[in-house]
Amino acid sequence: MTPAPLARVDARAKVTGSVKYAADRVPDGLLYAVLTCASIPRGRVIAVDTSAAEAQPGVLMVLSRLEADEVQSAGYLMAGRFGMTSVQPLSDDRISYRGQPIAVVVGQTLHETVEGARLVAARYESEPAALRLGDEGAETVDQADVLPPGMGDGVDIGDAQRALADADVLVAADYILPPQSPAPMEPIGCVVDWTADRLVVHEGTQNASALRHGLAQQLGIDPDTIDIRSPFLGGGFGNKIALGAHTAWAAVASRRLGRPVKLILTRSQMFLATSARPESHHRIRLGATRAGRIVAATHDVDQQTSRADNYPADYVSYSSRMYGIENFRGHERLVRTDVHTPGFMRAPWEHPASFALETAVDELAYACGLDPVQLRLMNDTATDPVTGRPFSSRHLSECLTRGSQMFDWNKRSPEPGAMRASDGTHIGWGMAAGAYGSPTVAAVTHLRAGPDGRLTVSTGAHEMGQGIRTVITEAVVNDLGIPLECVVLDIGDTRGAPQHITAGSWGTVSVLRGVHEALAALRVRLHLPPAGPVGDLGQRVAASSSTAVHVRAETRGPGQPAEAITRLYQGGLTKQGPVYPEFTSYSYVAHFVEVHLTPLTRQLRVVRTVSVLDCGRVASPVTAASQVRGAVVWGLGAALQEICEVDPRFGGFLNDDLAAYSVPVNADLPSIELSFIGVPDLALSPSGIKSLGEVGMVGLAAAIGNAVFHATGRRHRKLPIRTDDLL
Ligand code: MOS
Repeated sequence: MTPAPLARVDARAKVTGSVKYAADRVPDGLLYAVLTCASIPRGRVIAVDTSAAEAQPGVLMVLSRLEADEVQSAGYLMAGRFGMTSVQPLSDDRISYRGQPIAVVVGQTLHETVEGARLVAARYESEPAALRLGDEGAETVDQADVLPPGMGDGVDIGDAQRALADADVLVAADYILPPQSPAPMEPIGCVVDWTADRLVVHEGTQNASALRHGLAQQLGIDPDTIDIRSPFLGGGFGNKIALGAHTAWAAVASRRLGRPVKLILTRSQMFLATSARPESHHRIRLGATRAGRIVAATHDVDQQTSRADNYPADYVSYSSRMYGIENFRGHERLVRTDVHTPGFMRAPWEHPASFALETAVDELAYACGLDPVQLRLMNDTATDPVTGRPFSSRHLSECLTRGSQMFDWNKRSPEPGAMRASDGTHIGWGMAAGAYGSPTVAAVTHLRAGPDGRLTVSTGAHEMGQGIRTVITEAVVNDLGIPLECVVLDIGDTRGAPQHITAGSWGTVSVLRGVHEALAALRVRLHLPPAGPVGDLGQRVAASSSTAVHVRAETRGPGQPAEAITRLYQGGLTKQGPVYPEFTSYSYVAHFVEVHLTPLTRQLRVVRTVSVLDCGRVASPVTAASQVRGAVVWGLGAALQEICEVDPRFGGFLNDDLAAYSVPVNADLPSIELSFIGVPDLALSPSGIKSLGEVGMVGLAAAIGNAVFHATGRRHRKLPIRTDDLL
């Protein structure tokens, strides 16, 4: 019997306000820290005048230059260290990006401190800055030349140039995607208390271990003296994936003043002084037979990074595996610009790459006179074309077929502009597919079964709103048959298990591998059968000799070496896959959308979406559906609204707040229909689960663009598509 799906276990606590986020904490004696940020994108700060700020009542300290060696750089996450960037502001006079902090003001009340920060004055020596791709001074490098081998090498299989030259039908086009901000509702920030022997940090982060080890490196102290507590985040989306610069300053202030310190970034600082999705340009060429079989493709990408760090571009891993294309060349270049190091934002590479690829595939379908669903079905593959090994599971064709049925796709008139409502409204039906890798990471899971019948699960996971608490609770309840009130979670807190970065849609599959292995060990310890309800867990524990029973599991991804566990304890990244020694694992989606466009005023609305997903077994139906709905909303925002408008004069973004950075609100939302294929992927892990968080967004923007083409006959290759593009 399938147990009834669990409702979100923390829903009540969240909607009634009893969940405490970092900024909600007001310990006794709390001081406030506020940043003053640079108003130029590049150059030197030659003088910082802090006198007016220091004279402001309530201000206790203004930090504009750290003592030598007081704070070291934590290093860059993607170079194997811990930070969002290797830039460590306040340690020298360089300004590398607009919004780089130049002073930290600490005071008694928030109001006094904000005023103090406003009074900090600086003089700069400006240098010309490159802010966008194509700006003068932007430096373009081959990614393969600057990243270690195995990262960003590109893809080269078969002979793409030659097969393109020989192809009957050719599509060649350029696609442009803008910088975007992850804009989580909960801003980045911390409450820090550094007492004699311990540094305690409350901060919503996707990577508590990196904060612990990065702070230890920055401050020159033992990581074991640092506790990071991140039980809940108000959204992460990649913006909280590593250590930011602010945390160490709050720690320094707390140590110098002997009081707890709260430092929360303003909304504008969230846009300027944290990571954003970088601008990327894509050139796609597809070559096909007249019958629609894709024989060759190339995908060339230019992606923005900063001068300081090589934020990797990994678009072509996805685009080379989406279809069974035998001749494929994918090549990526990094463009160094004067911005904060860009960062991960939901489906960081797959969303832009899918907009390019899936629009091009729609263009190809029209060029071949084929239905776009049919064309995709024809180009499906069971084999990873890059490695020649099988996919662990791939149910893309079922997603396409089921989605067509749910949407009534066969009622579509294929010619652009052919479908009109009686009032003249243009109707567009478009579709696209998507995929997202299913990587896994190492985990340590500790269970404590108490004589009171409670089971405490300590493992590496951060609850960002995606539902990992519900997923773990549901897994335990379904396995042991104990009441859900008896399941206690200890996650996002470095006092428990190591807290590996939660990102890349690897959380559920990685954590459940550990939880199930630990539960199996618990059953052995308690002399219970390997499956089935265990009855009264407290009695089972009491029947064994100890007061509480402890078990532990160390788990790794398929084929992952044991040193992953060592790296896990050092706060490092242990990502494995989606290319594993014996197979490649991806999740899949097919999206179908209907748009309406008013004929005169050119108002575009997405009125309905149907998305069908293959993400293996669905661990938690309630939170999985919610994740996908959220992903669809993200895709909608990416297609029609979200763009950081670069300020060409001073750097940064003109729309650096939630009023001007447009994201979908409830009134923008279509009817969102979902379905899961639900076939377990038992090659990847015993739980049968694949990735879910990000795949739901992949391809959605292309499906909308394709629907707009169907409505109007006009092809959009640049996002977002806004009213002025539709006139
Ligand atoms: Mo997600 S962009 O991998 O946090």
